[in-house]
Amino acid sequence: MPLLPETLLDDIQARVDIAQVIGQYVPLKRAGRHFKALCPFHKERTPSFHINTDKQIFHCFGCGVGGNVFTFLMQQDRLTFPEAVRQLAQQVGVTVPEPTGAASNGKAQQLVELMEKAAHYYERMLAHPTRGRAAREYLRGRGVSERTRQAFRLGYAPGGGADLLQAAKRAKIALDALEHAGLTLRSSRGLVDRFRERLAFPIIDARGRVVGFGGRSLQGQEPKYLNSPETPLYTKGRQLYGLWQAKDAIVKRKLAVVVEGYFDCVVLWQAGITHVVSPSGTAFTPEQAKLLARYTDQVILAFDADAAGETAALRGMDVLVEAGFQVSVAQLPSGVDPDEFVRAYGLKAFDGLLDKALNVVEFLLACAARHHSLSDPDQKVRAAQGALATVARVPDAMRRREYVRLLAQRLHLDERAVLEELEKTHARLQRQAPNTARQESAARGGLQRPAEADAVERLFGALLLDEPSRFESIVKEWELLEQLKDGRLRGLLMALNELRAVSPHLGPAQLISRLQEGERARLVAELVPVAQREPAKEEAFRKCLERLRRRARAHQQEQMQDQLRVAQELGRDDEVRRLLMKLQHLMREPMGTRKEEGSAAWVR
Ligand code: UTP
Ligand code: MN
Repeated sequence: MPLLPETLLDDIQARVDIAQVIGQYVPLKRAGRHFKALCPFHKERTPSFHINTDKQIFHCFGCGVGGNVFTFLMQQDRLTFPEAVRQLAQQVGVTVPEPTGAASNGKAQQLVELMEKAAHYYERMLAHPTRGRAAREYLRGRGVSERTRQAFRLGYAPGGGADLLQAAKRAKIALDALEHAGLTLRSSRGLVDRFRERLAFPIIDARGRVVGFGGRSLQGQEPKYLNSPETPLYTKGRQLYGLWQAKDAIVKRKLAVVVEGYFDCVVLWQAGITHVVSPSGTAFTPEQAKLLARYTDQVILAFDADAAGETAALRGMDVLVEAGFQVSVAQLPSGVDPDEFVRAYGLKAFDGLLDKALNVVEFLLACAARHHSLSDPDQKVRAAQGALATVARVPDAMRRREYVRLLAQRLHLDERAVLEELEKTHARLQRQAPNTARQESAARGGLQRPAEADAVERLFGALLLDEPSRFESIVKEWELLEQLKDGRLRGLLMALNELRAVSPHLGPAQLISRLQEGERARLVAELVPVAQREPAKEEAFRKCLERLRRRARAHQQEQMQDQLRVAQELGRDDEVRRLLMKLQHLMREPMGTRKEEGSAAWVR
């Protein structure tokens, strides 16, 4: 991620009020100086979502989400951190340098505006009573409603040759800007419109910006679909067509349906499969997988049942599997694409296909059965090896193991032998491509819940956060931090201590911007109210310290006790003497605490 200057983050935060931003999404109730609301991140009847206006953070006591204004937008609008920063910056009029060189900022913005204007132009042309009639007829013929047209911002690029160009000239848009945006082409006749006599499908990014177009020919011209060239705004394989329209549904259903074509996407959406996206024009790429992973970790591929569709499904499956997705594949009747299917048989029937989608192994075996005779031992083994090339990409060990079991069962192969082959395949894949998607999805692994901090640890952490100068009192007792049971808390406090050296007076909202990493940022918001509830903070901190010291001491004694027993059993008298002396020394130190934790351990 390109680094955003921290002063810039602070600057933006200083200009916005978190309550005002969140208030745009949910109705707020005043609670003293602060606000409460029904949590937008989980279902509830009484508000447990709190906004602390002094600290400029939010926290939900119900589901545990929390953070500052940036992390709120990240979660609410499913943005990355830089995207959230940019969105707010724009609202408050702060300029954020573009990642690709500072000077290009204005240019990038220009490009965004130009693409928007072009989309709007094509929309207008489609709505035009006479000029757009044929294109509207075409859409009607394919069952696309007016509402869907608007939702996808479908348009019509007229066939005159230079219609867009003329309109741009009238609007005083520089022609080289049009070319830069990939909207025109150089021909022997000079500059011409790139999209002529085509239906325009705007490709909209996760922030709602038009970044490119797909154009479907209306009069049978080749190619059937023409796509925007790469521009600073549009990189092939980085966007998912339909994502902007589908993202909320994807989050809600925790599932995305992936189809091949523009029309499949639009028509399924209209039929009620609103969680649908398409890689459009490319095989599914790792970047697209990463983009989709912001919203869900489950996909169903619904590709055409022809040979090309099967190949595309296989490739897409590998990419998605490797990125940590749970993938299944819907089986369409041969020669029918999702658009045709849903129009012919309806939503219910399509839902039925989704319900019956095959898991990775089942799908691979179904494909194998078409090309191999699975009763022949050699062909059977070859089929299994083919399937393992996909199974070996599964990052989750449990799921990998389940797939191996299923594969062995279905093919009547020895499971251990399959497992052995899997290891080899795995090693080969790792050699081929050291993969970051794998690590990322492991890091994302929402399943591992870290051990919860106990009350003392939490209060201790909360008080350090509340007043980082309290770190001064533990600089010589670093083991107090190191022994914390909750790794999340330990990590946060270590990070906080490091940041403290550079910026000693960070409030929680600024701290969250610097941490970014979700778990820790969330923990900050969770701990702020813990400290605030504490009436006598200094006293409380002293008590926490005492408890933690005692715990450290007890722990140390237990360990020494173990060592002592081992030394005794081995008859190593020197070592026994040394340990006994140390133990006595430990016990003589002030703050005798033998009655507390771990006392039984050393009395024996
Ligand atoms: P298809 O040929 O299956 O077309 O291409 P389709 O989506 O079913 O379109 P209709 O129903 O005939 O209108 C699938 C996808 O492949 C890309 C497009 O993204 C298309 O939606 N494609 C296809 C191209 O990029 N260029 C082409 O010339 C053809
Ligand atoms: Mn089609």
